[in-house]
Amino acid sequence: MLVVWLFLLTTAQCLSLISCDTQCPCESQELCQQITVEKDFEVYVFDVGKKAWKSYDWTKVTTVAAFGKYDPELMCYAHSKGARLVLKGDVHLSDIVDPANRTAWIAEKVDLAKKQFMDGINIDIEQQVEESSPEYYALTALVKESTEAFHKEIPGSQVSFDVAWSPKCIDKRCYDYAAIAESCDLLFVMSYDEQSQVWDDCIAMANAPINQTLIAYEHYMMMKIDPKKLVMGVPWYGYDYPCLNLSQEGVCAIPKVPFRGAPCSDAAGRQVPYSSIMQQVNNSMSGRMWDEVQAAPYYNYKDKAGRVHQVWYDDPESISLKADYIGARGLRGIGMWNGNLLDYSNNPVAQQQTKDMWNALKPNQEKER
Ligand SMILES: *[C@@H]1O[C@H](CO)[C@@H](O)[C@H](O)[C@H]1NC(C)=O
Ligand SMILES: *[C@@H]1O[C@H](CO)[C@@H](O)[C@H](O)[C@H]1NC(C)=O
Ligand SMILES: *[C@@H]1O[C@H](CO)[C@@H](O)[C@H](O)[C@H]1NC(C)=O
Ligand SMILES: *[C@@H]1O[C@H](CO)[C@@H](O)[C@H](O)[C@H]1NC(C)=O
Repeated sequence: MLVVWLFLLTTAQCLSLISCDTQCPCESQELCQQITVEKDFEVYVFDVGKKAWKSYDWTKVTTVAAFGKYDPELMCYAHSKGARLVLKGDVHLSDIVDPANRTAWIAEKVDLAKKQFMDGINIDIEQQVEESSPEYYALTALVKESTEAFHKEIPGSQVSFDVAWSPKCIDKRCYDYAAIAESCDLLFVMSYDEQSQVWDDCIAMANAPINQTLIAYEHYMMMKIDPKKLVMGVPWYGYDYPCLNLSQEGVCAIPKVPFRGAPCSDAAGRQVPYSSIMQQVNNSMSGRMWDEVQAAPYYNYKDKAGRVHQVWYDDPESISLKADYIGARGLRGIGMWNGNLLDYSNNPVAQQQTKDMWNALKPNQEKER
């Protein structure tokens, strides 16, 4: 009983007196200072944990969104490179329709960021929302109030929001995109999972076909969203689809798996890391092929049971084509889901492939400079 009391007492003290448990874990106190400098070109990395970050190309990284367990070593290291480390923010929208609840959620996040010497938050709400519903307004308010609170409490901090590849109610996410963009520092556009709702033929297609991907940025900008608020998210993974049959022309028919109103979806496939794809492609039935229309690589292979699969993915060639658009249209930068998906082993072939993926992130104009 006494032990419990003491524990509660210490915890309570630590919640109220910030100084009691916020010792800087870094080599030098300076590294605990939040990053306030904005770089011209954003390279936004989602990190899902463990130590892959040690192998990232830190000459490029500007922001790391910590989607894994908080790692103080990563915080110190990112700061030593002038890069931000930001929190993940996710909440059930029905819980934050109530303004008091919303304020409480935001206060908790700001406290956590401060305690962990972090530089902002990435709000990742991928829930379906109906236009003009209570959740629709609550979401915009959440972003606006989070940004105000973070900017006030952690000067120079960054608040970002993750949006679907297109603003057109993808996966029934009918958000007020223009107001949300206005209310935060940047939108991370998730230009992947673009087959989450397949309305036409149920066939395997690219994760992020180029035309569909780029036209959606035009749609964002047509809503008067400043290109300098848009970070292009590219996938460092692909989809492995089992084929019901493979036509003469190489079209892979996929099982019907409905999603949010659409008859078919990429849920018929399985997400695979770029690292695994690179280990498989050379020994596949087809080897690497290239689809001119979608500007994406793919290949076919047979599994142990003899069933044909088609794998669609992104590689330096397809990513470079998208990155060039960033330069041409003056977007804020690029990023990926996620940083951990490359092969960071000592294998020389893997090392070269990993380096090429990082290098593909810079638009041509930047590469030449
Ligand atoms: C407030 O949020 C909590 C969860 O964080 C939830 O259980 C509760 O129902 C919410 N209250 C209201 C009024 O939305
Ligand atoms: C994609 O864009 C190119 C170049 O603008 C165009 O020629 C092509 O027809 C487009 N493809 C589709 C499927 O829209
Ligand atoms: C392939 O499978 C699809 C879906 O079952 C079917 O509609 C189509 O006719 C099949 N094509 C061939 C060439 O067998
Ligand atoms: C696969 O083939 C490509 C192109 O021939 C080559 O550059 C690469 O090193 C090969 N990958 C592996 C893992 O052997």
